[in-house]
Amino acid sequence: MTNKKYGHFDDEHREYVITDPQTPWPWINYLGNEDFFSLISNTAGGYSFYKDAKFRRLTRYRYNGVPMDNGGRYFYIKDGDTVWSPGWKPCKTPLDFYECRHGMNYTRITGRKDGVEASILFFVPLKTWGEVQKLTLKNESKDVKSIKLFSFEEWCLWNAATDMENFQRNFSTGEVEIEGSVIYHKTEYRERRNHYAFYGVNVPVQGFDTDRETFIGLYNEFACPDAVMEGRPRNSHAHGWSPIASHYIEVTLQPGEAKDFIFLLGYVENEQEEKFAAHQVINKDKAKAMLARFDTTEKVDAAFAELNAYWDSLLNIYNVETGNDKLDRMVNIWNQYQCMVTFCMSRSASFFESGIGRGMGFRDSNQDLVGFVHQIPERARQRIIDIASTQFPDGGCYHQYQPLTKRGNNDIGGGFNDDPCWLIFGTVAYIKETGDFTILDEMVPFDNQPGSEVTLFEHLRVSFDHVINNLGPHRLPLIGRADWNDCLNLNCFSWDPNESFQTTENKSEGSKAESVMIAGLFVVTGKDYVALCRRTGRDEEADRAQKHVNAMEEAVKQHGWDGEWYLRAYDFFGNKIGSDECEEGKIFIESQGWCTMAGIGLEEGLVGKALDSVKERLECEHGIVLNNPAFTTYHVEMGEISSYPEGYKENAGIFCHNNPWVIIGETVAGRGEDAWEHYKKILPSYVEEDRQTLHKVEPYVNCQMVAGKDAFRPGEGKNSWLTGTAAWMWYTVSEFILGIKPDYDGILIDPCLPKTAKEYTVRRRFRGAEYEIHVQNPDGASKGVKSVTLDGKALDGALVPFVPGKHVVEVIM
Ligand code: GLC
Ligand code: GLC
Repeated sequence: MTNKKYGHFDDEHREYVITDPQTPWPWINYLGNEDFFSLISNTAGGYSFYKDAKFRRLTRYRYNGVPMDNGGRYFYIKDGDTVWSPGWKPCKTPLDFYECRHGMNYTRITGRKDGVEASILFFVPLKTWGEVQKLTLKNESKDVKSIKLFSFEEWCLWNAATDMENFQRNFSTGEVEIEGSVIYHKTEYRERRNHYAFYGVNVPVQGFDTDRETFIGLYNEFACPDAVMEGRPRNSHAHGWSPIASHYIEVTLQPGEAKDFIFLLGYVENEQEEKFAAHQVINKDKAKAMLARFDTTEKVDAAFAELNAYWDSLLNIYNVETGNDKLDRMVNIWNQYQCMVTFCMSRSASFFESGIGRGMGFRDSNQDLVGFVHQIPERARQRIIDIASTQFPDGGCYHQYQPLTKRGNNDIGGGFNDDPCWLIFGTVAYIKETGDFTILDEMVPFDNQPGSEVTLFEHLRVSFDHVINNLGPHRLPLIGRADWNDCLNLNCFSWDPNESFQTTENKSEGSKAESVMIAGLFVVTGKDYVALCRRTGRDEEADRAQKHVNAMEEAVKQHGWDGEWYLRAYDFFGNKIGSDECEEGKIFIESQGWCTMAGIGLEEGLVGKALDSVKERLECEHGIVLNNPAFTTYHVEMGEISSYPEGYKENAGIFCHNNPWVIIGETVAGRGEDAWEHYKKILPSYVEEDRQTLHKVEPYVNCQMVAGKDAFRPGEGKNSWLTGTAAWMWYTVSEFILGIKPDYDGILIDPCLPKTAKEYTVRRRFRGAEYEIHVQNPDGASKGVKSVTLDGKALDGALVPFVPGKHVVEVIM
């Protein structure tokens, strides 16, 4: 496969610049970072929603369409007989110039045709429930241009799931109002909804359409709507069927002249008593107020400057200069940006997650915190409380919850026995970043039941105890429905294709299925728990917990070691999984990652051996695969993992999320060279350089999975954006490779480097203080800090104490 480049990084502007609209897959971006969100592809496809992609969907999207990525916020320009779109789609008229710049929560798409340039800046202003679209039309020709401009959005009838299935109802419910240049979407507002949406523009219009069939024509396509092709809006008023919003504007441009048009897609909620202005007339006050905030170029530019300043401040918290631009741009820009997106979206809305499936995952959201907590600790704090509120009194947890209601999701329930550990993981990260121990005293309910509140610390205790109260015959943790690997379903035994692997457990009573991965995870988070107890004066509890941690390490050494690597699990019957004795799936990555991170058997050489086995059996050109050999047949006693063809997803795919576990394991063993080599393989900027065609998905963020060595096309990426990989890549590089580790009383300096790394500087804001940390590695050491000075004074050890103010730290390896 010959590689083609579709774009390049522009680090100065923190943008990825796409120069060819026909990317191997839609390359998307996210607008909004708090309540209102939009997904936008490089051809302006995608959709918008308020808080919850399932329950508050503003605009419609068709997944997996033909052609790909159909539907979005579209502009049609009719210039004489030529009709074109600045983002190439939907018209697909060949353009004289095309460029899409994805930046930090904004996207700018520019197209040029026959002497007219159209450039649209899309963004969600801070603290705003709406998407601004600033369109600039410019006449670059020598003639006067008379252009007909049409905008287009298609409303979703709010619930994105029923919107795609319940047509006997939907085709009769749609309602709109049109007033001036604003089109209001008010379906179901007459009854139980107290929210509506609107799409407006800051200039008078010469026409509009709100009925899809009238605008496009029943057998037409987005590419060539009747109204646009004829250059004549129908002024249609939608009653039922499929309401849309399209403005029609006639524009005359003198040679060299440019004009701005500001469109706003907004969302409004009204109090019950204030819903209507008159009989059947919605109260438009809030919409008008929002429109007024963005009705001039100056106001929009100011809002955009505010958004950029916001990102300046977020990205100034951790900044590295290594001289390697591929590393620097990922650490300073894109990895941190992806962490914000995964924090906001969890696994709900992307071009691989439909937004109608999953809400917030218990384990996923806790892991996402680790990549985000340094950015906005207050939001991380609230998230921890929300997550903990979905825990059960015995420490078990709902596996998912809905962002709008914050309630545990009954469809999937609980029983994933790794879940509780992640609460400790997330909370410890928060306290280390902020020094805010008061979070431990917050009163937090179980299963959101009023009256059941206990302190957050108590939630951590029951989390810890959930593992030790659920041990199997080898004193290893029982796996339950699954551990981190949702597809290792050891209690499921499903022969029915209509059952879900995750929620069907027909044999868990009396099961012996145990997870060595949870054992490793428990040792890592258990040590954290012990340290937290000590730091907060809970010595007795620390002693008690330490005993269990020690016992777990022993159990792994005795029953979790296979000779050259750590076992993965014991199945329902007590048979080994991930052992040399197995025919397929002899070795798995998860237990190698967690047991090496935990340092189990470090002195005895187990860690080094396991890491070598990973290199020998799991590593390939594109990263580390999950298991090897891949499963070639369905194993009913293992479930979904063996349902995937070889090399994909959990069956020997490169599941990027877990590669960092091994990388951290390498740093525990002090093997800086190996850590760096593994890290580089899945670092997007390296892939970007020479594998854009093969990799297929966005080259500026990590994807969940890259096809493994057993796949038909190794190296092909899928499921971009919403993956724990973001937080884990961040945690790995910031804390374990560059070695800047927030700790309870300061910053611990503990890099693990390849020999070639001679020098770098990290600027780190920490609890309001600023540290400029120079690391020098004159002898090419991998690990071990020789000396640290703080503002010229030598420190005893590598912990830089937290002191307010500005500081310079010199580190010699
Ligand atoms: C998906 C899930 C995550 C799970 C992983 C492995 O990324 O969101 O919870 O751990 O797959 O199965
Ligand atoms: C499937 C996927 C896995 C994901 C899970 C979520 O099992 O393979 O990656 O975590 O669905 O429910």
